[in-house]
Amino acid sequence: MTAHQSGGFDLTKRVVLVTGGASGIGTGIAAMLAEAGAMVVIADIDAGRAEAAAAALVAGGGKAGHVQIDVADEASVVRGCAAVVAAHGVPWGLVNNAGVQDRQLLLDGTVAEWDRVIAVNSRGPFLMSREIARAMVAAGQGGRIVHIASAALIGALTQGHAIYASSKAALLGLARASALELVEHQITVNTVLPGGVATPGAIAAKGPEPLGPGRRSPPLGMCDARDIGAAVLFLVSPAARKITNEVIAVDGGWSVC
Ligand SMILES: NC(=O)c1ccc[n+]([C@@H]2O[C@H](COP(=O)([O-])OP(=O)(O)OC[C@H]3O[C@@H](n4cnc5c(N)ncnc54)[C@H](O)[C@@H]3O)[C@@H](O)[C@H]2O)c1
Repeated sequence: MTAHQSGGFDLTKRVVLVTGGASGIGTGIAAMLAEAGAMVVIADIDAGRAEAAAAALVAGGGKAGHVQIDVADEASVVRGCAAVVAAHGVPWGLVNNAGVQDRQLLLDGTVAEWDRVIAVNSRGPFLMSREIARAMVAAGQGGRIVHIASAALIGALTQGHAIYASSKAALLGLARASALELVEHQITVNTVLPGGVATPGAIAAKGPEPLGPGRRSPPLGMCDARDIGAAVLFLVSPAARKITNEVIAVDGGWSVC
């Protein structure tokens, strides 16, 4: 039976873990996955908002669970991923979406800020990928890992993004290396680059005024969280079984202007 015969975009009976799923882009990703039938587990550092986001998915007719995980903390990741496997079984998919996006000019840059941003945006996806891939490999069922990086990597930069862009560039290396190591287990690893989305995190981001090319309006208009979720849904679906180590920008056509 091909993936298409078995329901190319149908995620019924599949568990997908979405980090940072309690806010912004994560809620759009979670909604798209739930509408495709997935059991979506919201993993967030904010336990209360994770529970509320899962409840909203269930109220909308979806299947959802929640877990408190600080992706930057190894013990929290190990404990949280084990709890997810015990409660819901081995996930089919992992979406590494949790991130922080404050800005700091290079000339004002501090090691403290570098360590804080890298811990969440780079170490977090590394730890989450390691734990969930271990479970996927042991289960022998294949799987999907999707990283949420940023269109800042393809030019939609604003001033203050030296640390942030570095933290997101690390995901491309992580994806490439882990795609190579996991391909024999039928686990794919891909990356989505969102353009600007007016989320709580983006609006509240601290730092210098975000001047630069990333400020330009994209020709197709600003994306919303579900635009990012649509690309993630495709990459998580059975239909994307032959796609790994790919990068998809969802940026409203920013790159053509
Ligand atoms: N909004 C944009 O314009 C934009 C553009 C490109 C990429 N992104 C990326 O998309 C992702 C989501 O961003 P958003 O705009 O929805 O942000 P957001 O702040 O609205 O949501 C991020 C979520 O991640 C959670 N989180 C933060 N640190 C965490 C940690 N250590 N452990 C677990 N959860 C944690 C937060 O509690 C929150 O629920 C981020 O990785 C961000 O870098 C956003």
